[in-house]
Amino acid sequence: METEVLEEKVTDYNKIFNEKDYSKRAGEGGAQKATNNFYTLVTEFYEKGWGESFHFAPRFKGESFKASIIRHEHFLAVKLGLSSKDNVLDVGCGVMGPARNIAHVSGAHITGITINAYQIERCKILNKASTVNHLLDVKQGDFMAMPFPDNTFDKMYAIEATCHAPSLVGVYKQVIGKLKPGGKACFYEWAMTDKYDPNNPEHVQIKKDIEYGNSICELSTTAEIDVAIKEAGFIKDETIDLVHANYGNDVPWYLTLQSGWSLSQTRHTKVFRTFTQYMLNTLEFLHIVPKGTGEAHRILIIAADSLPAGGKLEIFTPMYLVCVRKPE
Ligand SMILES: C[S@@+](CC[C@H](N)C(=O)[O-])C[C@H]1O[C@@H](n2cnc3c(N)ncnc32)[C@H](O)[C@@H]1O
Repeated sequence: METEVLEEKVTDYNKIFNEKDYSKRAGEGGAQKATNNFYTLVTEFYEKGWGESFHFAPRFKGESFKASIIRHEHFLAVKLGLSSKDNVLDVGCGVMGPARNIAHVSGAHITGITINAYQIERCKILNKASTVNHLLDVKQGDFMAMPFPDNTFDKMYAIEATCHAPSLVGVYKQVIGKLKPGGKACFYEWAMTDKYDPNNPEHVQIKKDIEYGNSICELSTTAEIDVAIKEAGFIKDETIDLVHANYGNDVPWYLTLQSGWSLSQTRHTKVFRTFTQYMLNTLEFLHIVPKGTGEAHRILIIAADSLPAGGKLEIFTPMYLVCVRKPE
């Protein structure tokens, strides 16, 4: 990425997030601008470090990371009862790793929407290289104002994406509008759990760090999500935190981010991270990497530290499953 572009995006991102007042941060497209900048900065890092699907997953003992990611995606396909007859929207599709896996297992036609232009380019390249390109479409747009006619889709899903919305009710209202009557939607939501205590300074700091490190205006609690579903006009089929349900969670969802001694975990040790930060700052100073790279890395480290902290205290979940229907 061009030096000025990266530096400008990081500065802009920090400016929006330094705005302590949530309503100012979220207002006038601030959330969307911050999130768009965020994904321009991190998509390449994510693809290299995590893969083509940008989400967490429950994991059995002995199950590989990759297998657990695909199982979590197939689980949504089962919950939605997807088949080759369905016209589906993936809300906040990333680079469409999940959409390719879900199209493959179900035969459904899936359109992905993402706000980020770089992700659109990646979607087109990766879809073309896959065996399910004929089942996929992608559209750049804001899920707070979806560029589709009302009553278009049979089914919809969103994987760890609607947490970026400046208003959860707002994005749910968009989803219900674009679903056909009787259409189903399932979401994996990021949420603060019942164990979150807004009067506990440690809890509050972890929540703030998760928000800042991941471009989220304000995380909802599971209770607030249940209210938002109703307010948007959905019929609730099911809401459940998969972290605590019996869906195969022997390995904590945050293990991959935690430091340890396996090859994949050593990069999450404090020493390795400090070394990387020092290296990036030096390379930036020497004009070998674009200005802003060090700051982008620092933001990602805040995300990588705060997510396991929230997971260990069980005050945060990245897999609050929400299954809803639009009334007939
Ligand atoms: C954590 S990623 C998840 C991507 C994908 N669901 C996956 O699991 O691989 C969040 C996605 O939401 C998208 N997103 C966030 N805010 C958006 C908005 N206002 N409109 C459209 N897409 C948005 C981002 O561009 C990104 O693709």
